[in-house]
Amino acid sequence: MRQWGGRFAQSPSEMMLSFSESLSYDKRLFSYDIAGSMAHVKMLERQGILSGEEAGTLLAGLKSVRSDFERGEIPQEKELEDIHTAVESSLRAKVGDLAGKVHTARSRNDQVALDMHLWCADAARELREAVRSLQRAFLDQAVANKTLVMPGYTHLQRAQPVLLAHHLLAYFFMLDRDAARFAGVVSSAAVSPLGAAALAGSTFPLDPASTARDLGLPAIYDNSMDAVSDRDFLLELCFACAAAMAHLSRLSEEVVLWTTPEFGYARLPDAVTTGSSIMPQKKNADCAELIRGRSGRVFGRLMGLLTTVKGLPMAYCRDLQEDKETVFESFDVTLACLGMASQMVSGLEWRAERLSEAASDWPLMATDVADFLARSGLPFRDAHKVVGGLVRYCGETGKSPTELSAGELSQLSPLLTPEVCAEMFDAKHSVGLRNHPMATGPASVEAQVKKAAEVLDRG
Ligand code: ARG
Repeated sequence: MRQWGGRFAQSPSEMMLSFSESLSYDKRLFSYDIAGSMAHVKMLERQGILSGEEAGTLLAGLKSVRSDFERGEIPQEKELEDIHTAVESSLRAKVGDLAGKVHTARSRNDQVALDMHLWCADAARELREAVRSLQRAFLDQAVANKTLVMPGYTHLQRAQPVLLAHHLLAYFFMLDRDAARFAGVVSSAAVSPLGAAALAGSTFPLDPASTARDLGLPAIYDNSMDAVSDRDFLLELCFACAAAMAHLSRLSEEVVLWTTPEFGYARLPDAVTTGSSIMPQKKNADCAELIRGRSGRVFGRLMGLLTTVKGLPMAYCRDLQEDKETVFESFDVTLACLGMASQMVSGLEWRAERLSEAASDWPLMATDVADFLARSGLPFRDAHKVVGGLVRYCGETGKSPTELSAGELSQLSPLLTPEVCAEMFDAKHSVGLRNHPMATGPASVEAQVKKAAEVLDRG
């Protein structure tokens, strides 16, 4: 059944049908499509455009189509083109020609736009939930490992000791921006285009705001041409997915590094690793590598959708059908990666001795010693020079500062003593010096834990 057959003497070619159909992938929109049709029918009845009896029959028919589709009985014929026609054709099988009245004062242009708004809002809600679960995994790990110290890095060179919990909470707060972005997408999507019809509105006296209310959407578009051609909300979804994937990819990179023998900071459980078909000793962090690799797909989809919309004249153009596979893949991949990342993070087992050994590498405390000298009255530039001299001296003699005698130290600065070195060249002591807001000290991390827990409690 085609909705537009009247003007045509011949059917589209087989190739054209296969080329243009979207039913094979837009069938996942069926529940939104049917919800939209139901709201539309109710509005048509309220406006006196359909009789109560007609509306009643159509609503019962649509409900029954929904049950069939939920059971998986969705027609597959590519002649049906898309989900909108598939629903109408199934409705026709149930209520006869009356089915054609569902499409009064509506076009597939505003219909498909509505479906995408409803789908997008749900998708963004689901992604936000998945982000929250991953945040929970990070917070649990941070709380369970509050006292472990590790090297913090800049340029991937050991820089200063940090608490492992501090490092983990950096991801928690990074992910909080993803949660906020997905919430923003929900708001952007919550606008109804239904009533725009093909592009200019309808000759029927419609009440689009009441349809929107019925669907739980707080607003309608101000302009029908914008309504049928706007895909900004989908661009926002694609960007939010891409940003989340960039974050997951950074995390994955760290997990890959941490689980190498070179770092040896963590182990992954067998549940999320795989072996090699040739090297029996191998246990690879494939979960992390796959997440990192899949980020490419999601970044590509964002660029793809931008490219699809960039040259479109007003209003609807068939190019917009290309939005679907784009956003579906962005959503599917990001959701799966968020789920996998939660399992991966929860499964990380920390190798405390390796972390602490690496954090105790004495040059990591060089800044603290310079700060100590500056606190003792030396201008920071001079303090920096003294510690530079200490580092050079240790390099030349192959000793660590705690191995230097009082005489050797006083040559470098009268303020340096073995007692000072014993106190300062200690990783735990180093993090303990940093307790102002946002720093890595235990009190600061405790405050972060509290704030993170509040974030999760708010939902
Ligand atoms: N499958 C189409 C899409 O996804 C539905 C709208 C078709 N409208 C049209 N005028 N051909 O965009």
